[in-house]
Amino acid sequence: MNWIYINEMSKYVGQTVTLKGWVANRRESKGIAFVNLRDGSGFCQCVIAEDKVSETFDLSKSMSLESSVSISGEVLKDEKQLGGYELQASSFEIIDVAEDYPITPKEHGVDFLLERRHLWLRSKRQWAIMKVRNATIYAIHNFFQQKDFSLMDSPIFTGSAAEGTTDLFKTDYFGQEAYLAQTGQLYGEAMAMAQGKIYTFGPTFRAEKSKTRRHLTEFWMVEPEMAFYDLDMDMDLIEEMLRAVVNEVIDRCKTELEILGRDIEALKSVNQKFPRISYDEAVEMLTGKKEVNGVNAIQMLGNDLKTTQEEIIKVNAEIEEREAIVNDNVSKKGIKNFNRNRVAQLKAQVKELEEDARNIPQWIKSAENFEHGSDLGGSDETVLTRLFGCPIMVYNWPRKIKAFYMKRVEGNFDYVKGVDVLAPEGYGEIVGGSERETDLEFLIEQIQEENLNQEDYEWYLDLRRFGSVPHAGFGLGLERLITWICKLKHIREASPFPRTSQRLKP
Ligand code: 4AD
Ligand code: MG
Repeated sequence: MNWIYINEMSKYVGQTVTLKGWVANRRESKGIAFVNLRDGSGFCQCVIAEDKVSETFDLSKSMSLESSVSISGEVLKDEKQLGGYELQASSFEIIDVAEDYPITPKEHGVDFLLERRHLWLRSKRQWAIMKVRNATIYAIHNFFQQKDFSLMDSPIFTGSAAEGTTDLFKTDYFGQEAYLAQTGQLYGEAMAMAQGKIYTFGPTFRAEKSKTRRHLTEFWMVEPEMAFYDLDMDMDLIEEMLRAVVNEVIDRCKTELEILGRDIEALKSVNQKFPRISYDEAVEMLTGKKEVNGVNAIQMLGNDLKTTQEEIIKVNAEIEEREAIVNDNVSKKGIKNFNRNRVAQLKAQVKELEEDARNIPQWIKSAENFEHGSDLGGSDETVLTRLFGCPIMVYNWPRKIKAFYMKRVEGNFDYVKGVDVLAPEGYGEIVGGSERETDLEFLIEQIQEENLNQEDYEWYLDLRRFGSVPHAGFGLGLERLITWICKLKHIREASPFPRTSQRLKP
């Protein structure tokens, strides 16, 4: 037996090999069964013809969905197949016949699927997303390791807050209050003073009650921290990293991105120079006081609303036409089925368009009434990136809405040297970073202002007492990046077992 993986088939054309995997799909017609096998490395059509297999052909009928099997046969090239190859079976063995599998090719609601996440992970789309996740993690390590950054594992139990106290998960630590880490940054700063350039890459926790498409309660964050870096150098590094990581993923995950139907061109926008816009400018753009390449944000949204409404009318007309075919007395069964499926797709599309049509007026309102000094909301970020079509960096933020450790802007102490990177196509913030404050007195003031216990931060303040240097860093939300790369509707699909305020199991 020459056991190989599906993604190695190109090396074995014309040879007899064995594939081991699970039945992802199966259909049969007179004396021939087509089994779509998946083995973790990919998907492959296996053709089991009655006159070519040594086993009793009837046995193949018990290959129910998700049964585990081993199939041997000849590797044939077939351009029509995803992956490019198929297996002409000469023998097979059923390892375990699966019971009735709950997830079928028909549409399921997302709650149904999330409750079966342990099985849902096997489906083609979820498989592709998890491969992209793997490639993204690898590319991130690759980038930092090649630049000689040291990986640092920061603690998960922490004794102090770093990103505000409202979304902390509290735990009982032998009678002491401890929190799950919101960030590894403060520890990263300490390590940067020992190692120069470091990055942490681990799970972080936020007790976010909000039910948005962008928030998990447990997510992975990459946090580099660099001694002797200022905000400009920080922004240069963010840009270089996103460009390298996204390009590497595009390169490594062609099949996966094809399965996801991802438009690669939109991802390649990372190769443009990221516009750097100050918070003040961003507010002017958002409120329509400043145009971007001749486009006014408020007018753009008005146009978006108009096109969305026109599109709804168009799609509804097509639904009507196709439903007529489904219900007529003349069309063939195949044609009816095709149209029935199309109607289901179109109805889903209308639902999305209607959601947009409901949302856009609120976005306009939010943009028009945006108050200088407040934080950008999800829709504000969407509007801003819509104006550019590539990732943008918003820097120099009002001090009041940012974390206590950010360095003040020289000559304008109401602002801090923070930066947010917003991803295009409506995705919004994927990176948050800053140059760090070095002034000991000011940091102490900030800690007091935020009602934090200074004693808990003495170790952090020591970094300013013993050889303080300018330094900067940032945090990239892994799942936020994957959500954009895969163009997912909701961040929960970017995590193997997502944790949200709504879900802890499985
Ligand atoms: O902007 P944030 O809160 O920044 C920090 O935590 C800093 N300590 C980072 C640093 O400078 N070292 O979070 C950073 C990123 C966000 O841009 C976002 O991508 C992600 O973490 N993030 C979340 N992702 C998923 N769910 C949540 N609830 C998230 N909160 C933040
Ligand atoms: Mg942030």
